[in-house]
Amino acid sequence: SAADKLDYVKSKIGEYVDFPKKGIVFRDIFGALTDSKACVYLRDLLVKHIRTVHPDVELIVGLDSRGFLFNLLLATELGVGCAPIRKKGKLAGEVVAVEYQLEYGSDTFELQRAAIKPGQKVVIVDDLLATGGSLLAATALVRKLGGVVLESLVVIELVALDGRKKLDCDVHSLIKY
Ligand code: PRP
Ligand code: ADE
Ligand code: MG
Repeated sequence: SAADKLDYVKSKIGEYVDFPKKGIVFRDIFGALTDSKACVYLRDLLVKHIRTVHPDVELIVGLDSRGFLFNLLLATELGVGCAPIRKKGKLAGEVVAVEYQLEYGSDTFELQRAAIKPGQKVVIVDDLLATGGSLLAATALVRKLGGVVLESLVVIELVALDGRKKLDCDVHSLIKY
């Protein structure tokens, strides 16, 4: 069942105290991705969610870098394209940019102007929602180019940090801590 698959994936996610800074409990998606069954379950759960809730999706946008693990995977499964949001200085051509803060630092995200057509329906994907700073910035970039954010989708949500409250789009997470 879906609940069994979720429990299995959750059992494979790593936990590292005081990484990358003191006071942070780091939830490590890579612990699950070394397990072939967890990979397939993760794919199935994410694809099923989008097919059910957002069958009208037209583009998957994944966040640098752990969001890229799901970007192409979901796009090919769903029969749509995908685009990356990258940390500054990596994307060619005309870009839009926004600064953001996350649980343990700050940075700038960029998105290529050519990646999104006005009105295009987008699902944004990342591995994890903590304070919500990263996904808030991603949402702003997509909207700057006229994209419609159907949802932000993550594997892991750190509920105590209340990142969901910061976001003004629908949020879906598979696993909550
Ligand atoms: C991590 C994680 C999310 C973000 C969540 O990315 O992959 O993208 O932090 O934090 P927030 O909700 O507080 O914004 P990180 O910036 O560490 O980079 P990485 O994906 O390249 O590892
Ligand atoms: N990104 C932001 N906070 C994080 C955490 N606690 N674990 C893994 N990735 C994160
Ligand atoms: Mg990230």
